[in-house]
Amino acid sequence: MKALVYHGPFQVAVEEVPEPKLEAETDAIVQVELAAICGSDLHIYHGKIAGVLPGTVLGHEFVGRIVEKGALVPFSLGERVVGSFQVACGDCPACRKGQYFACLKGGVYGFGLALGNLQGAQAQRVRVPFARHSLFPIGNLPAEEAILAGDILTTAYGGVRPFLAPGMSVAVVGSGPVGLMAQMVAHALGAGRVYAIDPEDARLEKAAALGSLPLNPKAEDPLARVRKETQGLGADLVVEAVGGDGEALKLALRLAGPGGIVSSLGVPTEEKLEYPWLSAFSRGLTLKSALANIPRWIEEVLALQRAGRLRGSFVFSHRLSLEEAPEGYRLFHERQATKVALVP
Ligand SMILES: NC(=O)c1ccc[n+]([C@@H]2O[C@H](COP(=O)([O-])OP(=O)(O)OC[C@H]3O[C@@H](n4cnc5c(N)ncnc54)[C@H](O)[C@@H]3O)[C@@H](O)[C@H]2O)c1
Ligand SMILES: [Zn+2]
Ligand SMILES: [Zn+2]
Repeated sequence: MKALVYHGPFQVAVEEVPEPKLEAETDAIVQVELAAICGSDLHIYHGKIAGVLPGTVLGHEFVGRIVEKGALVPFSLGERVVGSFQVACGDCPACRKGQYFACLKGGVYGFGLALGNLQGAQAQRVRVPFARHSLFPIGNLPAEEAILAGDILTTAYGGVRPFLAPGMSVAVVGSGPVGLMAQMVAHALGAGRVYAIDPEDARLEKAAALGSLPLNPKAEDPLARVRKETQGLGADLVVEAVGGDGEALKLALRLAGPGGIVSSLGVPTEEKLEYPWLSAFSRGLTLKSALANIPRWIEEVLALQRAGRLRGSFVFSHRLSLEEAPEGYRLFHERQATKVALVP
């Protein structure tokens, strides 16, 4: 079958790779209907994720149909499903506590040795371990909506919903796909003013269309503006949706007002960050930073999608064939694409 293979920093290619096979009674094989490129794939593309070796099939966002299944998979052949980007067994001590991201047997597709060594979903077919807990039926939801539930929308939902009360001011650092989903969730769940901070005007246009106040740090100081708009206090909830070297998290920590919560969704590529301990102490900040917990929140997200209350497919700027995936990576890396869908 055809798949997108990582060969080293900025080197990806579409190639013939071996067919995935069932390896356990809890496995399923999914025929991919639509895959997508995530900001997390860009960290790999940039060569920043240790453990992703050349030869790895990338991709962890997909919807499709079950075409093969082990005896312990409680779905029907042909059933249309979205994959959670993280695989969880549902049965280990971490899963039983509902902390699926820490599953002792889990992993993330296409993320190499540190995360389960699973082949990715930017492919014609993908093997899904623990299918019962890692796949979710989507009925006839459009693929461009349902695919968001498997990663960026549910990541954003889990980073906003537990912390948001009606009327709260919300600042979102990064208005890429994850930041846009966080803004959409905040608006849908009754936030007050939502501030969108990003150096890319094209991304801020999508933020403004959602009803957020766009702030470009190249044009004005976002900290001064957010404070001015919040009686000098800062935001009640700050969502960091950039990751990488930590510059955005530093800004997020400064944007939060007294009693504020900083919900950090970005994937770090550095081991350490200088933490403004005294100033965070003085403001009574709470910092939450983790891999998303998709199985915990996805049913709520799918219900809101079915009811039409969360519609995120506006985020896609490109729909390419799988063969064009290397071009999709280039466009997304250069921020000429907001989000790229791939059709195998
Ligand atoms: N926690 C999780 O489980 C999880 C899940 C999905 C994605 N992520 C992470 O979320 C982050 C965002 O993903 P994405 O798909 O939106 O990626 P993206 O790279 O497309 O978006 C990042 C956005 O941040 C902006 N940006 C860069 N530096 C900034 C700064 N200093 N201040 C403000 N904005 C800045 C960029 O212009 C871009 O629009 C990535 O780190 C990704 O790995 C985490
Ligand atoms: Zn992702
Ligand atoms: Zn588990």
